[in-house]
Amino acid sequence: MARIAVFNQKGGVGKTTTTLNLAGLLSRRAADPLVIDLDPQAHLTGVCAVAAPRAESSLYGLYAHGAQLSSLQCMTSNGWRLVPSHLDLSKVDTQFGKGPSVLYRLSRALDREAEQNPVLMDACPMLGVLSLSSVFAADGVLIPISADYLALKGALQMERTLKALEQVLKRRVPRRYLITRYDARRRMSVDIERQLRERYGNEVCATRIAENVSLAESPASHRDVFAHAPSSRGARDYADLLEELVGAGFLQSHLRDAKPSLRNVPAGARTALSAGRETAVRRQVAAGLHLVHSGRTGG
Ligand SMILES: Nc1ncnc2c1ncn2[C@@H]1O[C@H](COP(=O)(O)OP(=O)(O)OP(=O)(O)O)[C@@H](O)[C@H]1O
Ligand SMILES: [Mg+2]
Repeated sequence: MARIAVFNQKGGVGKTTTTLNLAGLLSRRAADPLVIDLDPQAHLTGVCAVAAPRAESSLYGLYAHGAQLSSLQCMTSNGWRLVPSHLDLSKVDTQFGKGPSVLYRLSRALDREAEQNPVLMDACPMLGVLSLSSVFAADGVLIPISADYLALKGALQMERTLKALEQVLKRRVPRRYLITRYDARRRMSVDIERQLRERYGNEVCATRIAENVSLAESPASHRDVFAHAPSSRGARDYADLLEELVGAGFLQSHLRDAKPSLRNVPAGARTALSAGRETAVRRQVAAGLHLVHSGRTGG
């Protein structure tokens, strides 16, 4: 199964809602997903009501002490494994820098621990080491786009970001744009959908996630929508989405195997990377980050 980063630099577009509900559904289908909360706001961790972790026992432990992901996981009441977040993750950029060893740490940890089950990564709404790490670790990026007036701006920003990262990764990052908070009665929703489909074609999911009160309410009861309101529109939409992603191969293991990225270099060969190669990678990452930050990628 694939590793999916749920990412959009724009805030409040449904990243956490999407992660929560896809994880819930995968778990009900016995796929035993691993979910990683990369957002220092720790919304997903909070929704899961896991005991507030110390910084060292959250994802921060991976960056601070090289802790194994398996030692950081906890089981949520929703039945899936979570690597929780902690506010201290907001210090990662300044404490550990932006070099390749930090940017690839999550990816390498997943490789090393040979995680075989689907991995969902809930990214934060910022362009920094954590969100970039989720893309570097991912086979595909799911980009929720809330059908509001800044939607297209957010989509263009993401397009530029991924374009810059692709120069570093030397591969096209498979992606799907997911329209969220859709309201067919609103002209704006319809216009945004048309424009997204014109620009991104098949990369826009056919499934739209409608504006739905059950999706907004379920986190307050620390549950996904399938437990909170199984017959709601929100539950149906996310079930359709999973079916679409699996049917399209976006959630399949062969995706991971097919992409020639640095993280797919076999472990032995990777340790044999020459100092020169590491330097080249470091330069590429720095150049990519520079392009990302300066927004000079055309697009
Ligand atoms: N389809 C929907 N219908 C109604 N409310 C929704 C829907 N999707 C998300 N919401 C609500 O919108 C708010 C933002 O959603 P969410 O937290 O998932 O976004 P996010 O992209 O993870 O935000 P952030 O960028 O802060 O991490 C939440 O209150 C959530 O309950
Ligand atoms: Mg979120």
